Amino acid sequence: MGTYFNQKDLQTLRELRATLLGMEQRPDGEAAQRYWASRRTLELYDQVFAARIGWKWAAVLDEVEQRGGLPAPRTVLDWGTGTGVAARTVLRRIAASGLPDQVVLLDRDETAREFAAASLRAEFPGLAVETTAEVPERAFDLVLASHVLDELEDDDLPPLIATAAAADQVLWVEPGSMVTSRRLGAQRAVLLETHDVVAPCPHRGACGVLAEGHERDWCHLFARPPAEVHTTGEWSEIHRELRIDLRSLPYSFLALRRAPVEHPGAGRLLGRPRFQKGRVLLDLCDAEGAETRPMLQRTDKALFKALKDCAGEVVLMERDGDRLTRRP
Ligand SMILES: C[S@@+](CC[C@H](N)C(=O)[O-])C[C@H]1O[C@@H](n2cnc3c(N)ncnc32)[C@H](O)[C@@H]1O
Repeated sequence: MGTYFNQKDLQTLRELRATLLGMEQRPDGEAAQRYWASRRTLELYDQVFAARIGWKWAAVLDEVEQRGGLPAPRTVLDWGTGTGVAARTVLRRIAASGLPDQVVLLDRDETAREFAAASLRAEFPGLAVETTAEVPERAFDLVLASHVLDELEDDDLPPLIATAAAADQVLWVEPGSMVTSRRLGAQRAVLLETHDVVAPCPHRGACGVLAEGHERDWCHLFARPPAEVHTTGEWSEIHRELRIDLRSLPYSFLALRRAPVEHPGAGRLLGRPRFQKGRVLLDLCDAEGAETRPMLQRTDKALFKALKDCAGEVVLMERDGDRLTRRP
């Protein structure tokens, strides 16, 4: 018996986690499992897994703000909304400059749609929230998608891509695993026909990680979880009972907009720096491709130290011959 979650809830969380992690390896053509068994399942997902997804969204929104932000949307669609965490996190961030006129929550599951709509209405009274199981034909200012790519069945991807292609802005966040990140990279190539990249790529060229010779690489980043994961009993129980490494929040994402973007002309650090004796290996992505570059500790001791704890930070590096310097 847990202190914060009873045994039944912990079992529900374990099974849900196994189902969600299994989606990535689902054989082609096999239907994705439906897992929203009850309102309690949605509550537990929202409390645990969606909270972690919200922290990834916070990191994404930080990076997008550093890259100039996105124009305030009048209409927002959250595609595969689940409990609505993507829409809630984005609205919290933009609320001070005005809420959208309309938010549409799309999910194939009715209980999820109702849960997500209620959570948005509770947090943003007066917000015009609609729910739908059908892909709307109209275009939206902002389309959100979060942790949905692995669940799509054969006919589901084209409508999502068409909806994203018709939007002014797209924010799409997925897990940071190799398979899913590379799948998202493939969709980036499709959406570059209509959009430019705000982040994470510091360029709009082909994805360096998908280039020949990079078959074992993938574009992934790490968000910084809030202090509460280390200090509260609830999270300690989740760590113990579900065996989740709460310090690690790997994610992949795309922030796209229709209007052209000014790119920083520097390399963006991917993944985690890999430390060796007296040097660190940095996976950098820039307009010329993705490449692992060594940096010697003695060339910049302060930067070497700062790289040890850079989860959640956007690290941009400039190359000058063999020397790497950090873009402030
Ligand atoms: C893993 S959950 C993610 C929910 C939420 N976006 C998040 O990040 O927490 C995926 C959601 O996508 C929904 N979904 C999967 N395929 C769908 C489809 N083809 N059309 C609409 N919703 C879909 C599922 O019902 C589920 O609620």
